[in-house]
Amino acid sequence: MKLPRQFFKPLAIGAPAPYRELPVQLERMIHFVPPHLEKMRAKVPDIAKQVDVVLGNLEDAIPSDAKEAARRGFIEMAKATDFGATGLWTRINCLNSPWVLDDIVEIVGEIGAKLDVIMLPKVEGAWDVHYLDQLLAQLEAKHAIGKPILIHAILETAEGVKNVEEIASASPRMHGMSLGPADLAASRAMKTTRVGGGHPDYKVLADADGDKPRAGYQQDLWHYTVGKMVDACAANGIKPFYGPFGDFSDLAACESQFRNAFLQGCVGAWSLHPTQIDIAKRVFSPDPGEVAFALKILEAMPDGAGAVMIDGKMQDDATWKQAKVIVDLARIVAAKDPEMGKTYGL
Ligand code: GLV
Ligand code: MG
Repeated sequence: MKLPRQFFKPLAIGAPAPYRELPVQLERMIHFVPPHLEKMRAKVPDIAKQVDVVLGNLEDAIPSDAKEAARRGFIEMAKATDFGATGLWTRINCLNSPWVLDDIVEIVGEIGAKLDVIMLPKVEGAWDVHYLDQLLAQLEAKHAIGKPILIHAILETAEGVKNVEEIASASPRMHGMSLGPADLAASRAMKTTRVGGGHPDYKVLADADGDKPRAGYQQDLWHYTVGKMVDACAANGIKPFYGPFGDFSDLAACESQFRNAFLQGCVGAWSLHPTQIDIAKRVFSPDPGEVAFALKILEAMPDGAGAVMIDGKMQDDATWKQAKVIVDLARIVAAKDPEMGKTYGL
């Protein structure tokens, strides 16, 4: 393991120093765009105003014969669009593919200064992050890029889940992680063809009561992995996300999956369809009632010390910190989204 002092040194002469703290950035939804399609690229300036992150997808769902068109299309849309405070990310092809080297070299060379985060699929261990980390430092130095490009891993193989803690702490360039339920299901030989969400056969049966029909309650297939990912991320000061929800016709199930992830500690999810943007906005913005209560706590305990009672509930140092998490997030939401800001009274 690297010594702490070495950990924060740039990996190439002339590369920017790694961040010690992640930039404060609202990332409730990572909106996927297939950049080989001109019709989709044309919508990007509009979409960029509605979402927190625009991601040009180069990996799965892009046909093999369109990989180069997707890469060129992403570079074109990145150059042509003013993203303002909206994040610009790309999901590159996986490290054992024939496309990934050109993805990284061309994209960083042409629009590296505008790119916030590279999403790296099928990460199996820290070694995958180290490879990209070193290559990015070399390219940042070569192209005089002033701020580090961050790495976001997709947790979507059994080996990746086994190594999740090493992945989370592999580099100061780590931004966070997303659960990839489709590839992960395949990697683990789970018996589902769904992309995220529950399964009618994954349930707990109520106790038998004579001949009466027994109720069955569906369980969350992803609970264990999300919990493991959240702990690995929180322990390393990086951000956990739920990934894709594939059934675009079931908005309620999508909302429920996103909400479970939010309550477990995730900060955002992927939106693969425009209807999922509003769901993510609703779920991953703090609740106005919670914000109002959190503001009361901060007002009653300006320096966070001691203990007070508010509406019959005990408040102390720990709840002051919880309140601060919520109010800090509400302020970031309000800055990006004045409508939500009004509901918070900020
Ligand atoms: C996402 O990439 C997934 O495999 O679910
Ligand atoms: Mg995948």
